[in-house]
Amino acid sequence: MTHFYPAFLDLRGRRVVVIGGGAIAEQKVVGLLDAGAQVSVISPSVSRRLEDLAAAGTVAIERRPYRDGDLAGAFLAIAATDDRVANRAVWVEAEARSVLLNAVDDLPHCSFIAPAIHRQGDVAIAVSTAGKSPALAVRLRERIGRLVGPEYATLLALLGELRAELAQRVPDARARTRLWYSIVDSDAIEFVRRGDVAGARRHIGRLVAAAGEPETRGPGIVYIVGAGPGDPGLITRRGLQRLRGAEVVIYDRLVHPDLLEEAPPWAERIFVGKRPGSEGHGLPQEQINALLIETARSGRVVVRLKGGDPFVFGRGAEECEALWGAGVPYEVVPGVTSAIAAPGAAGIPVTHRRYASAFAVVAGHECDAASDLDWDALARLPALVFLMGLRALPEITTRLIAHGMSQQTPAAVIASATLPQQRTVIGTLATLAERAGAAGLEPPATLVVGDVVATAAAEQASRLEAAPVVLLGSDLSP
Ligand SMILES: C[S@@+](CC[C@H](N)C(=O)[O-])C[C@H]1O[C@@H](n2cnc3c(N)ncnc32)[C@H](O)[C@@H]1O
Repeated sequence: MTHFYPAFLDLRGRRVVVIGGGAIAEQKVVGLLDAGAQVSVISPSVSRRLEDLAAAGTVAIERRPYRDGDLAGAFLAIAATDDRVANRAVWVEAEARSVLLNAVDDLPHCSFIAPAIHRQGDVAIAVSTAGKSPALAVRLRERIGRLVGPEYATLLALLGELRAELAQRVPDARARTRLWYSIVDSDAIEFVRRGDVAGARRHIGRLVAAAGEPETRGPGIVYIVGAGPGDPGLITRRGLQRLRGAEVVIYDRLVHPDLLEEAPPWAERIFVGKRPGSEGHGLPQEQINALLIETARSGRVVVRLKGGDPFVFGRGAEECEALWGAGVPYEVVPGVTSAIAAPGAAGIPVTHRRYASAFAVVAGHECDAASDLDWDALARLPALVFLMGLRALPEITTRLIAHGMSQQTPAAVIASATLPQQRTVIGTLATLAERAGAAGLEPPATLVVGDVVATAAAEQASRLEAAPVVLLGSDLSP
């Protein structure tokens, strides 16, 4: 696969040749003129607008077919014809003269491709699909357009005014980068959105003034943030906000890599999870606690990012106790737990009104012979969710049956829930362990037991196309 190198070209005063005079050529010419290029059009016939531009002296037009030599002195050329033979001839000359060429809709004759552009003032966002689907590029541009409105052009103008001043006021490059991020991450954009540009200016001014003062580092703080079950879109807004303000991120294995990208580029990222293939935590908890305390005491903003919710088998409580004991301030930002979201992602509502008015969340890796769980009580509950239970699946199902649950109780395992590779295996207490084994499911996986699972089977037909659910020989009637 070839990756195109994205670039924005400075075409001011440069000669650009456009071969063709139709609607597409016209659109290209307008864009090129906008960028300050000196445009020559070569085509036997040209559109009305191009005629007008020529009459106004804005473009030069030669009303004839392309001929070898037309690209002399050009920096860049566009072939907007539907004649592949002509495009080929232009390509040969462009290559010989090292002129950048885009032949519209004719990828083999392009040395550059034109992205779809969303522009707001000096903000320009280019979308490329490597020439494979201009239509998709246009739709993506439209989506981006809905997110990045004119307020960003205004904000950028304000930031542009500040650039020289900040370089002088904050000579340390690292501190300056930090300040820039604190400005763009601040509410300045909200002021602009409300039309209060003066307010935005004052707001930015306050941040700049604060940065100029001698640095008085506070005591530091730890935010214990739930990252959600897998899909990076399932973190809370507060969690994302804390992450974007982090100076250090201490994270587990189940945290999606896209979320780490949300932290500022200079933030330190420390992995404390277990290596792939295992469930639970890696670095001993005491060491993680000590790391949290030590990093916060150095005056930094620490985000402790954990899969799901920090307090659902996340050892968040132990970290809070350690921080409390050390006098380090902390805040807990709850997350969407896989105990509810993983079944949910497979169409299993853990408290479906018809089937379950209670459910228990159980640590599956503690289901060995020495387990002190009250299995009689568990077996009487209408719905059970086991986390970290994939390896112990045969013991769990056997025990539940031994303690009185029907062999026919519906049960499901959902692996990598909410992620593109999500897989669901459905069976009964009697069949599930074997089926999950045959399917070769990998952690992380969540087990659900109870009639609520039956609702998943009923929903499969409609969900199968929309969601990445794999059903392996379910013996449930829908
Ligand atoms: C150490 S526990 C942490 C649970 C987490 N605090 C939560 O609230 O989701 C890890 C277990 O959560 C479950 N889990 C986490 N992410 C999952 C996912 N994407 N799909 C299925 N189960 C998941 C698995 O049972 C895994 O072994």
